[in-house]
Amino acid sequence: MYENEIKALKKAGRFRERKLFSDDLVDLASNDYLGLSHNKKLFKKAVKLVTKYDTLSSKASLLVNGYHPIHKDFEETMAKQNGFEEGLVVGSGYLANLALMDALVRKGDMLFMDEEYHASGVMGAALVKERVVIFKHNDAQDLAEKLAAYPGKRQIIAVEGVYSMGGDLCVKDIFTLAEEKEAIMIVDEAHSAGVLGENLLGIFEHYDIAINNRHIKMGTLGKAYGSYGAYILASSHIVSFLVNRAKPIIYSTAPSVFDTALALVNMKHIRKKAKTYREKINARQALVESSFGLVCASLIVPLEMPNNTATQEMQAALIAKGILVGAIRQPTVEKPIMRLILNVSVSLTKIQEALALIDHNRVK
Ligand SMILES: Cc1ncc(COP(=O)(O)O)c(C=O)c1O
Repeated sequence: MYENEIKALKKAGRFRERKLFSDDLVDLASNDYLGLSHNKKLFKKAVKLVTKYDTLSSKASLLVNGYHPIHKDFEETMAKQNGFEEGLVVGSGYLANLALMDALVRKGDMLFMDEEYHASGVMGAALVKERVVIFKHNDAQDLAEKLAAYPGKRQIIAVEGVYSMGGDLCVKDIFTLAEEKEAIMIVDEAHSAGVLGENLLGIFEHYDIAINNRHIKMGTLGKAYGSYGAYILASSHIVSFLVNRAKPIIYSTAPSVFDTALALVNMKHIRKKAKTYREKINARQALVESSFGLVCASLIVPLEMPNNTATQEMQAALIAKGILVGAIRQPTVEKPIMRLILNVSVSLTKIQEALALIDHNRVK
């Protein structure tokens, strides 16, 4: 039924497949930044936490009777750690972005979204498309002009703390501009929480920005936090509005109790070990800079490749050497890249080996 479409994808080198990769491969592909996906001690701690309760699964929407004490504990701990009034658990980062864009951009409001915002935010924005303005990637000047050109009852800016494919940080000027204009800021911290800042809290901590009631932070639990699910942190006012209006929160089963417990345990662990992780992150960034001249402010190293075929061949060559690196092609990115993650559980030697192999063939 979709033969022609599949044929076209294959011809363009864009055909995707689910693959099972061996656990023996050195993982420089996943978003498991801190290596917690292998931590059995923390996993067992989460099992112990859940089994204290009679109810072990979510059963219903948060707003029927799916709200579990573990959800509440997670929300309160996360909000307190990050300096927000309130937290809200969400099924996934994808759902969180849909919820934010769809619910918050009301009649008369305008949403200003970075052109490299994640696909989930783009899909959410499509639901309110007549109220959306896209601004040039990380360009505070372009944003300033667009904020002036499109006044709204509320102006809402959507950015990522660390951009998922380029690995670059949202510039501080955008935070400053949002403050000047009293705009609401939605900051997707999927790739910055657990990575940036002294306590690994993310971009607000990295830039030393005092949280106010126009700041909204969302993030996933499927990356540095080593679990699955997501969260939104905001003022009590905004959280209350989302609980009343955001369809992915109202009409979806509450997030998995176990996954939330695992994220809670992992989050506390990260906080406790922040100094050690910070040092490991710094060491990996320093290696990339000293050996390859690449300045990397996050844990994502994008290495541009000549074409889709070269990207796939490079991935196969690395697998043959026991190393797995992401091969990212269009339409996810404009130009194909090897996306190497500086996973802190992988040795500096292995990271250097992988980088040296790719460096030889990348576009410079
Ligand atoms: C920047 C960004 N936002 C949101 C998401 C979606 O989060 P989740 O995987 O929890 O649905 C992702 C990727 O997974 C992401 O990279």
